[in-house]
Order: sequence, then structure tokens, then C-alpha cells
Amino acid sequence: MKNIAIFASGSGTNAENIARIFNEGSRLRVAVVLTNRRNAGVIERMKPLGVPVLYVPNSVWDNDPAEVVRILREYNTDIVVLAGFMHYVSPEIIAAYQGRIMNIHPSLLPAYGGKGMYGHYVHEAVVAAGEKESGVTVHLVTDEMDKGEIILQERLTLAENETPESLEAKIHPIEYDIYPRAIVRLLERLNGGDLRDNSVAVVSTEKSELSDDTVKAAKAEPSADADEEKTVAQSWAEALGVPLPAEPAMPPIPEQPLAEQPASVEASGNVQAPSALNAQHPDHPMPPTYMLWAILATVMCCLVTGIVAIVFASQVSNKYYAGDFEGAERASRKAQIWIIASIVAGVIFTTLYMPLSMLF
Ligand code: GAR
Repeated sequence: MKNIAIFASGSGTNAENIARIFNEGSRLRVAVVLTNRRNAGVIERMKPLGVPVLYVPNSVWDNDPAEVVRILREYNTDIVVLAGFMHYVSPEIIAAYQGRIMNIHPSLLPAYGGKGMYGHYVHEAVVAAGEKESGVTVHLVTDEMDKGEIILQERLTLAENETPESLEAKIHPIEYDIYPRAIVRLLERLNGGDLRDNSVAVVSTEKSELSDDTVKAAKAEPSADADEEKTVAQSWAEALGVPLPAEPAMPPIPEQPLAEQPASVEASGNVQAPSALNAQHPDHPMPPTYMLWAILATVMCCLVTGIVAIVFASQVSNKYYAGDFEGAERASRKAQIWIIASIVAGVIFTTLYMPLSMLF
């Protein structure tokens, strides 16, 4: 049994996909997920799969990386898979798992890699530059950000009217296909050959070599529909006798960003389900003027606060899916304030409208 540890910060669709493909019963499995976000979507995604999720605060990643290594060893980790992990991985962790930590990046590295290039920002930069192609890269993690050896890379051609959002929507399914294959490839290499029969595996960046050699070796008897076109992940799931999600593209789980909790490492069963953000009640007094002006001000206030709330609310998901979690948290707080302000203003308007309509 080979154990995979996943580091994830966000929604966790890649983590879920990997855990579904390589789950208990196969020769690979996701043994544990480590997240630096107490309310990361990945926590909910792992619950039905029975994969433990540990919340490891940023302070531990930064100041006590030996603790992370200890956890990885506790789970007999063979390889570490970064799936939307938006925090610095310290050299101590990289050294402890030299050549065994991989990352997925939503561009054709080395293009659009490095500082500030993650998630949505990558797609924005690619579209703004008028690129004709983009893609997905799975690479080894080294001390230099996004510069490690490339394990697998897949391209896609941009449409004429491509937007960052449409590009991101095309990138995700490629990620769900490419990452499981890259994991198998790295494990094969570390194993000195095929995972199933120890024959020598060809390791290259050509997609076709893994798809043919590995899958054929993995299958004891080719099925009747062997000629049918399959992804390697699907073939592996079939060969290893594990279920494959019928539809790999998963809907995002909305986030409720919370402030960072005190330093601790907790198993998912013990992670306190974060309650909704503590609402910050706005101090939004009505203007103390004549009644008519008050109503007018209330109507104006409602419209303006409502629009502002909508702007901030739209920023929450945009920033979240761009990986800017702090930005999403700030936007959610502001949206809450403005939503409450709109409601308060609306209630006051409704309350005043009745007596006023009787007067005039
Ligand atoms: C993925 O698109 C991944 O390529 C990207 O974050 C997203 C995570 O999505 N990673 C990076 O940008 C790393 N530099 P997920 O949480 O749904 O798997």
C-alpha cells in the first residue's frame, strides 16, 4: 500500500478527485489531508470519503515544520501531493520528502509561475497577455517556487473570446485527469518500476507512454471494451478495482472564511465546524432630518448599500476561487456589514411608509 498525503488550502476538488480514484482497496490511497485553513472546502469534501483531515495552522508550517514531517511519518506517507495548497512549504519538509512532493499548477510552466501566480491570477494573466495556449503542469516541489522537474504537462488552445473564468473551467477537468496519472508516474519511478509487477516503467513527460505501458501492465485481462477511449485515471481505477466518480467535475463548496484559529493540529473529526462569520452589526444611523428626507435617505441608503453589498459579495467567491483567501475573508466581512445595513434600511423604510402614506 502506498500512502499519499495531500496538502490543500481551498475548495479541494483536486483532492477529492484523487481520493475518489485512489481510495481504500487499491494499492494507493490518500492517507491524510493537511490543510492550513480551518474552514477549507476540502474538509467537507473528505468527510464522506472517510479521509482524515488535519488542520495545521500557518504558525506550525512556518515555525515548526518538524511537526508537519512528524505527521507525515505518522501516516507512513510515501508521497506528498499539493492540491491548491497556498502556503509556503519550508525547506525542512521538502528535504524530508526530497523528490516525493509534487504540485499542480494551472499553466504551462515555466510560463506564468512564481510569486503571485496561483489560481485565478494565472488565468487572468494568460488571457490578458493574449496567449493562444495554456495548460496544466504537474511538477516536483523544490526550494524554488514552480521550478521543479516537470512530471506531466498538458496543453489546451484558448478560444477567441476566452475569459479567465472560461479558461479556469476548461483547466479543472484537465487537472482531474492529469494529476492521478502524474501520481502514478512518480510512484512508479520511486518504486523502480511498475506498481503492480515491478517491471521497468518508462518515465517521461509524454502522456501516451504512461497510458499504454502502465495500464496494460496493470490489467490482468483486457476487458472486452479495451479499445474504448479512457483516461489513464479511469483505467487505473478499473485495474485497481476502485470506484471512479461518474462525473469528475465537482461543484464548488461555498466557503465561509473565518479568522485564523490559535495554533493547533486537529483531526477532522475534532475540527470544530466553523459557525458562520460573527456578524458585525453596522452602526448605520438614519439621518436625523425631516420625515420626508428620512424616507428619501432610506430609499437611497437601501439602493446604495444593496449595490455595495452585491459588489462585495461577488468579490468573496472571485477572490476565494482565485486563492486569495485573506481577500475573500475581508470581502465577506464587508458584504455582511452592507447586507445588514440594507436590511436595516429596508425595514425602516417599510415601517415609515405605512404611516406616511396615510398622512399624504
Ligand atoms: C487548482 O486549479 C490548482 O491548479 C491551483 O489551485 C487550484 C486549486 O483548486 N494551484 C495553484 O495555482 C498553485 N500555484 P482545488 O482546490 O479545487 O483543487
